Amino acid sequence: MKVLVTGGAGYIGSVVATRLLEAGHEVTVIDDLSTGHRDAVPDDAQFVLDKVQQVSSTLGRRAFDGVVHLAASSLVAESITDPQKYETNNVAGTRHLLEALRTTGISRIVFSSSAAVYGEPSWVPIEEDAPTVPLNPYGASKLAVDQMLDEEASRHGIAAVSLRYFNVAGSYASLGERHDPETHLIPLTLRAALDGRPVDIFGGDYPTPDGTCIRDYIHVADIADAHLLALGAASPGTWRVYNLGNGEGFSVRQVIAAARRVTGLQLTERVTARRAGDPAVLVASSERARRDLDWAPRRPELDEMVDDAWNFVQRRQR
Ligand code: UFG
Repeated sequence: MKVLVTGGAGYIGSVVATRLLEAGHEVTVIDDLSTGHRDAVPDDAQFVLDKVQQVSSTLGRRAFDGVVHLAASSLVAESITDPQKYETNNVAGTRHLLEALRTTGISRIVFSSSAAVYGEPSWVPIEEDAPTVPLNPYGASKLAVDQMLDEEASRHGIAAVSLRYFNVAGSYASLGERHDPETHLIPLTLRAALDGRPVDIFGGDYPTPDGTCIRDYIHVADIADAHLLALGAASPGTWRVYNLGNGEGFSVRQVIAAARRVTGLQLTERVTARRAGDPAVLVASSERARRDLDWAPRRPELDEMVDDAWNFVQRRQR
């Protein structure tokens, strides 16, 4: 297939582009490099430096069989202070992309949605039909696009899949997390280990066994593979949604313990205030993805994810 990957210079997008190329697809990446990195785009991919809002000209010039749409603003805290940015980049940007797909006759899309659409779940593991009550404009923007895709599929016959990622971790083929600012637990913990600083634990009084938040960590290569399967399985006139996680939760303290095992470094902790809008426990049920997409995570061990992230951090130190 000829595939357009929006946001393919980002952490997850670059791994998706790499895995698509490895599977024999032709890949074009469109990215405005507002948060992505040019050197993360695989050499064998075509690269277009542009915003999703300008995607029409890219689509007009080339024929694509499908689009994997990852380009988005994705900082939860920023979405609270600047919700308009999330409306513009995530919601309006996707609306424009869908119009451009309609005009050019591209009828297959896989979208990077998020566990953030569920907000504070009433129970775990979270299935796809759980109530969607996002706690912040970032989650709301992902939900708005999910709903847009549902409508686009029923009205215009597009084949659409939303993949709701839980906590993506690890690295693949020298591609890893390089966010600025970095907000995610694993890279921040590894950075603290390197710098000999304590890791901040955002809240030690959650209703969990050790008082810290529990998340479902999933390897970035396993996430990427789900995109390939979803592209193949997408069916005209249908919108499908899949949660992607390992179905097992780890607390912040368990992640820090894994970082100690992996790095062999002393790592001290400091409990600070809760971060606003953090649900206590997020664990996915990915039964639907396993059943419909034949997806099975191949790197489910937390230590392997932390080890891969650590290799990436060390490589960039050199
Ligand atoms: N945490 C800390 N200290 C840190 C960083 C994080 O204790 O320095 C905690 C957070 O409070 C949270 C857990 O570690 O409990 C994981 O935090 P991350 O920021 O790594 O990930 P989130 O669960 O907040 O975010 C993920 C995705 C987001 C998505 C969100 C939905 O990365 O894109 O889930 O809840 F929006």
